[in-house]
Amino acid sequence: MPKSLYERLGGQQGIRAVAHAAVDNHLRNPVVGVRFQDSDVAKLKDLATAFFCAGSGGPEVYEGRDMRTAHRGMNVNEQEYLAVMDDVVDAMRRHGVGPQEQSDVVAILYSLKGEILRV
Ligand code: HEM
Repeated sequence: MPKSLYERLGGQQGIRAVAHAAVDNHLRNPVVGVRFQDSDVAKLKDLATAFFCAGSGGPEVYEGRDMRTAHRGMNVNEQEYLAVMDDVVDAMRRHGVGPQEQSDVVAILYSLKGEILRV
């Protein structure tokens, strides 16, 4: 059996490290930082971790809002979307995620675009 993306990312521990670093990147990213100024950062990090664990084949249950509901009314644009993806890629690089896993994650994030952009 080939390993799941969850396993290849180092399970919950590996995904948590990347998710936390990605959210930290968003907070200081001039393109999107302002979007998160009223956020409960610890909660957002937990939700981002659970979302990616569940979405990559892990046993965790994601109990946050679905992507369309979470981003409804924000009017997120392409530039912001790219900024968020870049933040995730940077976080993966810093945490030693391999090139194949980086591409897999980018493909998943890109596939969510229609649920997040200008919904
Ligand atoms: C790349 C795809 C993205 C994924 C996978 C993603 C994932 C998530 C998740 C899991 C949540 C938590 C849902 C909840 O609160 O129940 C969330 C909330 C949020 N996201 Fe995204 N997101 C993405 C892109 C974006 C973009 C491009 C922006 C705009 C800059 C954005 C801004 C926000 C904000 C402001 C919140 C709410 C934070 C809060 O309620 O405190 N997201 N996102």
